[in-house]
Amino acid sequence: MNRYLGIVGIIAMVFLMNSFENHPFKNSPEENQDNTKLSLGAKTALVPAPVWVIGSYDKNGKPNVMTSAWVGICCSKPPCVMTSIRKATYTFGNIMERKAFSVNIPSEQFAKETAYFGSVSGRDVDKFKVSGLNPVKCDLVDAPYIKEFPIVVECKLVQTLELGSHTMFIGEIMDVKVDKAMLGEKELPDIEKVKPFVFTPGSSNFFGIGEYLGSVSPLTKEVEKK
Ligand SMILES: Cc1cc2nc3c(=O)[nH]c(=O)nc-3n(C[C@H](O)[C@H](O)[C@H](O)COP(=O)(O)O)c2cc1C
Repeated sequence: MNRYLGIVGIIAMVFLMNSFENHPFKNSPEENQDNTKLSLGAKTALVPAPVWVIGSYDKNGKPNVMTSAWVGICCSKPPCVMTSIRKATYTFGNIMERKAFSVNIPSEQFAKETAYFGSVSGRDVDKFKVSGLNPVKCDLVDAPYIKEFPIVVECKLVQTLELGSHTMFIGEIMDVKVDKAMLGEKELPDIEKVKPFVFTPGSSNFFGIGEYLGSVSPLTKEVEKK
């Protein structure tokens, strides 16, 4: 009996020690933080990168889509967005020819289609047919958008910039269209409804967006109060 109690005691002690080790409040973040930087060299493996899908027509009017992580807003007035694309992609020639593209922002539910759009070429397959998603002609520019994606952006090509492996395409945003159900306050897209996701270059993983952290103005005041 005593031997049995001893074994149970040891197991309980190991369990308690283990849960204390993993407890988030064991040390304050400052105590745990080691800011020693390790140089990784000149790389693009920064986290996170957005994951958007670029829509374009080929010279025969076939709609195509490709996933792009080298993307972002690059001017407020006029509103502009950029995507950097390799010459080897089918999309590259399409945008050069049609002088237009769409940016399609996926929700988490389209993670697998987004992976697929970035893994095969429209030169070889019809990505809309295979994925079952539907192309819709943009109202203002010569490009298709993805009907099922919650946010789509119509862009007119205004500049290209040769950078090396990639050419940056700068598009002026002619219109942003959002599914009604995805709108929140002030008729703006609601991130918690849209559920976009991000990409980790290098390791090639998708991650959802985490929890709400606060609004810019009150957060700024917290630092000023310090
Ligand atoms: C998550 C992800 C992000 C990507 N980002 C880019 C990018 O920013 N620029 C690029 O040229 N290719 C990028 N690619 C690769 C292209 O999407 C891929 O080469 C695609 O097959 C090109 O399609 P297309 O030939 O039909 O244009 C990415 C792929 C994935 C999976």
